[in-house]
Amino acid sequence: MYFYPGRVWLDTDGHAIQAHGGGILYDHITAKYYWYGENKDGLTYQTHPKSTNRVDIIGVSCYSSKDLWSWTNEGIVLPGEPTNVTHDLHKSKVLERPKVIYNDHTGQYVMWMHIDDANYTKASVGVAVSTSPSGPFTYLYSFRPHGFESRDMTIFKDDDGSAYLFYSSRDNTELHVSPLTKDYLNIMVAMRRILIRRHREAPAVFKLQGTYYMITSGCSGWAPNRALAHAAESIMGPWETLGNPCVGGNRFFRLTTFLSQSTFVLPLPGLPGTFIFMADRWNPSNLRDSRYVWLPLFIGGLADEPLDYSFGFPAWSRVSIYWHRKWRLPESWKGYT
Ligand code: GAL
Repeated sequence: MYFYPGRVWLDTDGHAIQAHGGGILYDHITAKYYWYGENKDGLTYQTHPKSTNRVDIIGVSCYSSKDLWSWTNEGIVLPGEPTNVTHDLHKSKVLERPKVIYNDHTGQYVMWMHIDDANYTKASVGVAVSTSPSGPFTYLYSFRPHGFESRDMTIFKDDDGSAYLFYSSRDNTELHVSPLTKDYLNIMVAMRRILIRRHREAPAVFKLQGTYYMITSGCSGWAPNRALAHAAESIMGPWETLGNPCVGGNRFFRLTTFLSQSTFVLPLPGLPGTFIFMADRWNPSNLRDSRYVWLPLFIGGLADEPLDYSFGFPAWSRVSIYWHRKWRLPESWKGYT
C-alpha cells in the first residue's frame, strides 16, 4: 500500500487512473472517498503551432476508495459533448480542475470547474450537480464570476458549511475569492482580490485550527515551477505568503514542486496537522500519461533544512511538503471512524 509519486497508478481494473487536475470528496453516506479529475485519455495535439498542447474534452472521471490507495473506476460522471459545437463541454473546448463538494441543505453534490475555449479566452467557471457522488452530473451553466476572467480555480467547504470559490483572474496576475450561495450553485456579491500581482494559479485550500492555508503554483503552463504556501486568519484575506513548502529531494526538485503542480490538499481525519498534497506531473507531449504526485504535507512539522526568510519572518506555522520516493499512510490510520 505504498504511494510512489510520479509512477503510473493503476485502478482496480488494472488501467491507469485518469483524474488529472483533480480533487477528493469524502462522502459520509457511502463512507468512501471520491476522486474527480480530468480524463485526458486521448490524443495530445496543438490547434496552432504556438498554442498550448491539449486533449479534447472526454469528461470528468470519478474513482472511489476506502483507503485512498486502491481506486475503483466509477466511470465518466460528466461527459464531454461530441456534436453540439456551441455547448461548453464540446470536445473542442477546455474543462479543467473539477472539484466537488456536498451541500447539506439540498443533498446535492455540486461540481465546479474551469470552462474555456481552446485558446483560453472564455475564462469562465462551470457548475454541475448530481444526487449521487458517483454521478451522473447534470451540467448547469458557465459564467465569469463578477464579470472577471476565471482560469485555474478551486472550491473550499468550511466547517460551518459555507463554501468559497478561488480563481486566478486578470490575466492570472491575481486571485479572487468569493463565497458561494447557500445552495453552492452561484457566487455571492462579496469578492476580495488576493495575492495581487503575484501571478499565482493552481490554488489548493485547506484549514487547521481556525487558520486557512493555500498552496499555489506560478504560471508556466504545463511546465512545473516553484510552489508557494500562503496563510490567512480570514478566508477572504488578507493572505500572507510563507514561502516554498517543498522539503527534501534536490534543489531542482524543490524549485519545481517535485516536477509537479498543485491541485488539491486533503486532510487526513484522525491525524490533525497531516494532509495529503496532491499534484500533477504534466507530460505536455502526451498529456494522458501525466502522473500524480501525492506527498505528505504537515503544518507545524519540523523541516530538515533552515527556514527561508526571504518572505519575512514567519508569524505562522510552517507548511512542509516532504519528498518521498515511496511512502505510506500510518498502519493505524483507519480514515473516518
Ligand atoms: C496551466 C494550468 C493548467 C492548464 C495548463 C494549460 O498553467 O495550471 O490547469 O490550464 O496551464 O497550458
